Amino acid sequence: MLTILVTGGASGIGLATVNGLLKGKHSVILVDQYNPDHQPVLEDLFRRYPGQVSHYTCDLQKQASVAELIDHLRMNFTCLDVLINNAGRFPKAEAEFCDDVETTFAVNVMAPYLLSVGLMTLLSKTGRGRIINVSSIGERYARSDWSDIQSVKMPWNANRVYNNSKFYLTLLTYALAERFKGRKITVNCLHPGPTATNLVQSTGGLSWPMRILFGLVKPFRQTPEHAARTSLFLATDPSVDGLTGCYFSKCHRENSSVPSQDPVAQQRILAYCELLRTKSSQRLP
Ligand SMILES: NC(=O)c1ccc[n+]([C@@H]2O[C@H](COP(=O)([O-])OP(=O)(O)OC[C@H]3O[C@@H](n4cnc5c(N)ncnc54)[C@H](OP(=O)(O)O)[C@@H]3O)[C@@H](O)[C@H]2O)c1
Repeated sequence: MLTILVTGGASGIGLATVNGLLKGKHSVILVDQYNPDHQPVLEDLFRRYPGQVSHYTCDLQKQASVAELIDHLRMNFTCLDVLINNAGRFPKAEAEFCDDVETTFAVNVMAPYLLSVGLMTLLSKTGRGRIINVSSIGERYARSDWSDIQSVKMPWNANRVYNNSKFYLTLLTYALAERFKGRKITVNCLHPGPTATNLVQSTGGLSWPMRILFGLVKPFRQTPEHAARTSLFLATDPSVDGLTGCYFSKCHRENSSVPSQDPVAQQRILAYCELLRTKSSQRLP
């Protein structure tokens, strides 16, 4: 039985992942943000799987909240087998900021970075810790700019901001895979496929062609249960033991975009996250 942390575990692909893990008799640490809609979902999980689920509320856009989560886990758990950075955000019609960081970047890139580094010791205790980052095929369509990493200086385009954040998450996956090699922690990422969830709550920030494309794809999206299969595979399958720095789709290894394979860019995003963390910790009490 493994102990597995899933962020964004009370809805969509995350909830399907949590259900799959619990059915497999694993112990789950479910992290979600405060949302009254999650309450019945959580009560149902506690009733069906007594003693198998721990729950923690954390706002992943706030570095202080992530730091509290890390402290709580360090104090209450002796080891962690798998960290699934599943939570994600699609930008709204206008840019939003939290602690001076663009919110989509904070949730999709910074939070996975902070959790990976903050939980490194717990993950390394098992001798086979796994980190799984839920990225997106959108990383292939990124138009990133190293002078505007948070994509806020260019005219606001929600799709571009989202794709760029998933590109950075893919880069970060490879950079952390390198960094953690000596600690016996593997780091991989995946594209779950287009899925019927509440991720895109408003198409207000999308260009018209993207709105039309989104409407056309909508009826053909897969279920969250189907989408969760790659996360479940990477979290529990013995065949991926020791495999690190890879990108998966439909439970198979694939190549991510050519720019994401650039080692210089990978180190650059790692250094940027480190810089943002340092700046923020200076503000923390
Ligand atoms: N759906 C797709 O077609 C698709 C395609 C490619 C990749 N993905 C990726 O798959 C992952 C799961 O997304 P999904 O499709 O299942 O959408 P979802 O149902 O909206 O799940 C995202 C989860 O992240 C949580 N979250 C968002 N902001 C948060 C914050 N500040 N603090 C804590 N939790 C936060 C959400 O909480 P709330 O429930 O409170 O909003 C939700 O539980 C994401 O990383 C997404 O980018 C999805």
